[in-house]
Amino acid sequence: MKVTIIGLGYVGITTAAGLAEIGHNVIGYDIDSNKVESLKKGISPIYEPGLDELLKKNLKKKKLGFTTSPEEAIHHGEIIFICTGTPSREDGSADLTQVEGAAKTVARHINGYKLIVEKSTVPVKTAQWIERTMKLYLKKKVDFEVASNPEFLKEGDAIRDFLKPDRIVIGVGSKRAERLLKELYKPIRSPIVVTDINTAEIIKHASNAFLATKISFINMISDLCEATGADVELVAKAMGMDKRIGKEFLRAGIGYGGSCFPKDVKALYHVGTQYGLNFELLKNVHEINEARIDVLMKHLKNALWNLKDKNIAIWGLSFKPNTDDIREAPSLKVIKRILNEGGKLTLFDPVAMENMKKVYPEKYPEITYAKDMYEAVKDKEALVILTEWDIFKEACLSKVKELMLTPIIVDGRNIYKPKKVRKMGFEYYPMGRP
Ligand SMILES: NC(=O)c1ccc[n+]([C@@H]2O[C@H](COP(=O)([O-])OP(=O)(O)OC[C@H]3O[C@@H](n4cnc5c(N)ncnc54)[C@H](O)[C@@H]3O)[C@@H](O)[C@H]2O)c1
Repeated sequence: MKVTIIGLGYVGITTAAGLAEIGHNVIGYDIDSNKVESLKKGISPIYEPGLDELLKKNLKKKKLGFTTSPEEAIHHGEIIFICTGTPSREDGSADLTQVEGAAKTVARHINGYKLIVEKSTVPVKTAQWIERTMKLYLKKKVDFEVASNPEFLKEGDAIRDFLKPDRIVIGVGSKRAERLLKELYKPIRSPIVVTDINTAEIIKHASNAFLATKISFINMISDLCEATGADVELVAKAMGMDKRIGKEFLRAGIGYGGSCFPKDVKALYHVGTQYGLNFELLKNVHEINEARIDVLMKHLKNALWNLKDKNIAIWGLSFKPNTDDIREAPSLKVIKRILNEGGKLTLFDPVAMENMKKVYPEKYPEITYAKDMYEAVKDKEALVILTEWDIFKEACLSKVKELMLTPIIVDGRNIYKPKKVRKMGFEYYPMGRP
């Protein structure tokens, strides 16, 4: 089938490469010409394991192409996916201007029946706005429909999640749209849940908000463990063994970040309150998450007394492992707080340093970037761990201890066994553990 992808970010590129991989003929379009030029060469502008290989393979097979021409893009696909960003507005609501921009582009260039599919995470009833925008900006009478097909991929595991999802949700308003989307996903052997469009939109928002709630819940319990000398890791382990609860997303620590959970929790809260409903639960989820930084800073200050002129290393800048994405990453907040208190920082992350350099350039006062994790800790008074990358879990801690000026670890992700690291001579500050 002929497919067009509008918006080539983490979701758009993965969708384009994934649909080409299962045999479709895909064109990706973005207003950012640098991204498009890089993608034409098979080089992904984002770090995602396996993505470059998939791009190169399908470009070579001519199953995949990229363009900055809206006309070429819209004429190509019978199915057009909108994968543009939906960031937060100041009031927490979703900013849908990129989605509106994509709808206007389709309206301007549409040349025959198109199924316009929102893959971006959007508030319920956004499809109706897309339909209205289309009708307002259409130059001639052309048949089109809007459907919802939310994306559930995780950065760092995006290709596997796209090709082998737990479920595919399609929200449709007609049998024709249902048939087209079922045919599109036929090569993927995952259950398909067919719903109306409003329901599909809510499924995505509700899923993300629920996962964020699990994280904030265990972080709330983490604070109780800390206050009472209990161990949140054991609480979470035993809770997670209950099949009704499950162990996923029950890890206490510095909290969630990234481009999805923070904005989706706020957006769903906003939608709920707009309908006059009590969605305070989600406000609490957000507030608990924000307060995680205070807990980590308390540990750091307990360890260093005060931070003025202290040399501190940070391991981990991305909001989670296996991605270079630093959007809403806890590292951004921690760096700001430490700098405000007069600390000096050396940062290391296996792939996210280039993105951090866009926020704090290399010559930024009081910040240095290390070549590797060991260089980062040399002569430092504390090491703060903010992302649970495998290389940090497997680090040679005796080497770390030798290199540091004072062997203090503040672990925002609970990646080490407290007894073991303390036995090695570290002062170790985990989250919610004695
Ligand atoms: N990143 C994730 O892990 C993830 C997972 C599931 C769902 N989502 C949702 O998918 C959507 C996209 O997320 P992302 O992380 O890929 O976003 P992103 O910000 O990385 O990418 C968005 C892209 O859209 C382009 N764009 C903006 N306006 C455009 C227009 N009018 N025409 C063409 N291109 C345009 C931008 O240049 C950018 O390249 C969001 O709604 C997000 O919530 C994201």
